[in-house]
Amino acid sequence: MKKRIEELRNRLNQYNYEYHVLDAPTISDLDYDKLLRELMDLEAAYPEYDDPNSPTKKVGGQVLDAFDKVEHKRPMLSLGNVFNYEELKSFCTKIEQEVGEVEYVAECKIDGLAMSVSYLQGQFLQAVTRGDGVVGEDVSANVRTVKSLPMKIGYDQNLEIRGEIYMPKKSFERVNKEREENGEELFANCRNAAAGSIRQLDSKIAARRGLDGFWYHLPDGELYGLDNHYDSLMWMKSLGFKVNEVYSRKFQNVDEIWQFIEELSAVRYDLPYDIDGVVIKVNSYAVQRQLGFTSRTPKWAVAYKFPAEEKETVLEDIFLTVGRTGKITPNAQLKPLFLAGTKVSFAQLHNEDIIKEKDIRIGDVVVVRKAGDIIPEVVRSVSEKRDGTQKPYIFPSVCPVCAHPIVRDAKEAHYFCINPDCPARVVESIAHFASRDCMNIDGLGIKKVEAFHQMGWLNAIEDIYRISQFETEICETSGFGEKSYRNLVASIEASKQNSLEKLLNGLGIRQVGDKAAKILAQRFHTMDALMKAEFDELQEIRDIGPITAQGIIAFFADEGNRRMINRLKEAGVCMEASVTRIEESFFTGKTVVVTGTLKSYGRKEAEAVLEQLGAKVSSSVSKKTDLVIYGESAGSKLDKARKLNVAVMSDDEFETKLKERQ
Ligand code: IVH
Repeated sequence: MKKRIEELRNRLNQYNYEYHVLDAPTISDLDYDKLLRELMDLEAAYPEYDDPNSPTKKVGGQVLDAFDKVEHKRPMLSLGNVFNYEELKSFCTKIEQEVGEVEYVAECKIDGLAMSVSYLQGQFLQAVTRGDGVVGEDVSANVRTVKSLPMKIGYDQNLEIRGEIYMPKKSFERVNKEREENGEELFANCRNAAAGSIRQLDSKIAARRGLDGFWYHLPDGELYGLDNHYDSLMWMKSLGFKVNEVYSRKFQNVDEIWQFIEELSAVRYDLPYDIDGVVIKVNSYAVQRQLGFTSRTPKWAVAYKFPAEEKETVLEDIFLTVGRTGKITPNAQLKPLFLAGTKVSFAQLHNEDIIKEKDIRIGDVVVVRKAGDIIPEVVRSVSEKRDGTQKPYIFPSVCPVCAHPIVRDAKEAHYFCINPDCPARVVESIAHFASRDCMNIDGLGIKKVEAFHQMGWLNAIEDIYRISQFETEICETSGFGEKSYRNLVASIEASKQNSLEKLLNGLGIRQVGDKAAKILAQRFHTMDALMKAEFDELQEIRDIGPITAQGIIAFFADEGNRRMINRLKEAGVCMEASVTRIEESFFTGKTVVVTGTLKSYGRKEAEAVLEQLGAKVSSSVSKKTDLVIYGESAGSKLDKARKLNVAVMSDDEFETKLKERQ
């Protein structure tokens, strides 16, 4: 039986290779499935012949609690960027001045996530993400499910290959369609989708995402008797790895490379995978070695990044949306177009000033692009194409949702609806409170909140915890029902255990997002303590500042907000921080300033340690400062401390103090 199992495995591996790497299947899907089924049955009947690298394992199965950290044998570096011909030319010139004429290889810059994969005695061993370049995460269980990646290779020595795991455009469209049907948040692009899939702890989910991989780097090429990069690609290919042969080519100078870049620019949106540029590498290993590295990047390779795609379309209308803070944002409704791979119908317009400055009119032909390759925005209007029917946009004086007069913020260019009962504000703020990064209440997304608000069941955040009074009505509502109701209630109940920082993030205090919420929770521990804090005390906290401090004071001064907090308290919502408890120490309660370069700590790191120890870290020295810790080249702050008779401490003394604590 062992023989048959092995025969099936070998045949299925070969069919996988032909289908997923060569794109040239030699067997029908039906016959393939038959053989796979036979192998699965045999493996079930003879568990003693189990093999983690069997083709049956490509469907996943392992569920992890977390990913193990793995140190890379050699750091996984990133590349320097160039954005135009001149910059690319100067990259090449520098090299040629140093080493004379060289041969280059240019290839697609695949937009996925970098991966290191190793093999031991011809068997797949491990796949590790780039991480911070030095230490990555073991995502073998997920990478194992990539159909085109061989689990067995005809090479017996240890081997490490590097490349990119990506989500093909077809998989991306399918996955997003499924997510839409399930009411889940869509992935913004192929890269995010690939990264999200590789981070799945359940490899069955990753397996269903249809990931793929291109392999473009062989760190130990010389060990295998190779002397240049291009040959390493061909060598990897010969072992059965998927390499991007069509778009990996040798060139002799910058103009040839530029031609290739132009060729790829023209076809990039027709490729079945996302690329965000072209990587240019010196071919010869000997020359690569001669050129060496800067601290973070090789000097023998660079990435040319494509500019964002810009296209013209018609701006059909401008409409306003109201956020949870009441902020009113203008948006452009566009004549739908395909932009950087997706269909786009809306774009950001930011605020009234920008519409005026860019003289954007309704009916204009406008140029659009995706900011950061994700969010569409209007770049400019094409005034030459006006025919007289275009109309300038007049910002209304009332809220588009509740018709309450709106006010323009003196400092920002935004209008705000100041009606706290504005339905748009109420719905947005409840949905924000329930969202994943805040109280994480499953089953209470924006659509549900909107519906519940319309029914009069949810009029404020605190109503979430009184939802049970509408049990009968909710259970009878079509599209909801008893089971969803039970799940929702369980999720609401669980949210009460969240810590103060999640709650603070959810309350919608102006300027307080997840970062500030964490800092505040760490500093004050309880809601009561934070509510008593004064303006000066708040604004002195690092990363808080006067505007945020003002936002916090104003929030807690509001009668309605105080009532809400009380109701949440009564409902049993946790009002305490989970962030690491402050340790009592010499520094506890002292206002400390760090200045100069410390020997063993980065400034930020030292400040974090001090906060952990209960110090208030401040950036400027005043009479209120208790201690100044100084490192090398400390300047005016140290002088000022001495002038004001503030205690000072050298970084050596600081370290000794920290050690004493242990
Ligand atoms: S070579 C030392 N080649 O781009 C050489 N990288 O900013 C290391 N990437 O982290 C990389 N396609 O994730 C190389 N054909 C390609 C690439 C590529 C995509 C990514 C890779 C890397 C980043 C560099």
